[in-house]
Amino acid sequence: MPDRNSMNTKPEPTLPRVEDIDPTFEPWEPSRPIPIFLLGILVALAITGVGMYLSDLAPWTDFGSPDTVANGPVAPLTQYPLPVGSVHGDAPELVHSGAGSVWSCASCHGVQGEGAGITPRLAGLSPDYLTKQLHDFASGERLHESMHYVARELQQRDITELAAYYARLPVPLLVLPPSDADLERGRLLFEQGDWKLDVPACISCHGSQGEGVGAAFPPLAAQQPEYLFSQLTAWKGGHRHNSPQNLMDDIASRLSYEDLYAVSYYAASVRHPGGGSLVNLSTENSDER
Ligand code: HEC
Ligand code: HEC
Repeated sequence: MPDRNSMNTKPEPTLPRVEDIDPTFEPWEPSRPIPIFLLGILVALAITGVGMYLSDLAPWTDFGSPDTVANGPVAPLTQYPLPVGSVHGDAPELVHSGAGSVWSCASCHGVQGEGAGITPRLAGLSPDYLTKQLHDFASGERLHESMHYVARELQQRDITELAAYYARLPVPLLVLPPSDADLERGRLLFEQGDWKLDVPACISCHGSQGEGVGAAFPPLAAQQPEYLFSQLTAWKGGHRHNSPQNLMDDIASRLSYEDLYAVSYYAASVRHPGGGSLVNLSTENSDER
């Protein structure tokens, strides 16, 4: 009965203290050291990670600072070791020294074959595609004054060596310059095409990541955006005619210059599986994807 109980017991303190119930109970002490300990491990791991990252970059100081091309710095790819020796490796002499009217390829295409502006990246392109283009320049099938001048002096043996050399080079990281290209439109064209314009998706021929397929379809991913645009406009304007069955002539002629620009910048921003490309963070539309 409420009456009897209340009379027989002392009034309880309004807030019973934990210690009164379980004197061994300690709210913080046993658990606190564990999170601090874990935190310590995480900090140690982070410091080790940064240290390893920096030491991975360190060898590049041997070659001077990483080359800066027109479109930004080219970062090394540690998973693709450079040819033995140095950055020049066992490159054919023509790459870095040239010979007579065969100007050094690196003087225009860069020491790592990275290209710049309207000069294409050659690093990581298929050897057969490179060979075909050099033959096309030499014969005039593909029009370009400088490349015609260079290529017509090359012996077949030179072409084979040059193509093998560039095909083996890692794809350098490309940092895109800011642009006002409509990257979302570019992405649609790249991945889906535009059936109203009768334009197939670029990836249907150039590989699901634009990485290039075999000898016939060159990579678009991480290629210099201005070079891609220059080739598309060359096809549209009828200045480049060397694509098999006029495939590219037809595609380029159906797209507007804005579309060609958009798809060029989008394709260049796609990360190449063998290396990469990095959208400059200041690029306006880059955060759309
Ligand atoms: C004077 C500068 C210059 C030199 C030197 C030069 N190139 Fe080029 N190369 C270019 C330019 C510019 C283009 C783009 C041509 C175009 O717009 O059609 C090009 C295009 C190419 C292409 C076509 C790539 C593609 O994706 O279709 C190949 C292959 C090539 N060059 C190989 C070489 C080789 C190998 C050498 C050295 C023997 C060399 N080039 C020397 C400027 C140069
Ligand atoms: C039906 C197949 C096909 C489709 C689809 C296609 N291409 Fe191509 N593309 C080719 C072929 C083949 C070549 C190589 C031409 C040559 O041998 O010179 C090429 C070459 C190119 C090149 C020149 C690259 C270089 O290194 O010189 C560019 C740029 C290009 N394509 C852009 C595009 C874009 C952008 C799209 C989508 C709008 C696209 N292509 C869709 C077949 C295709």
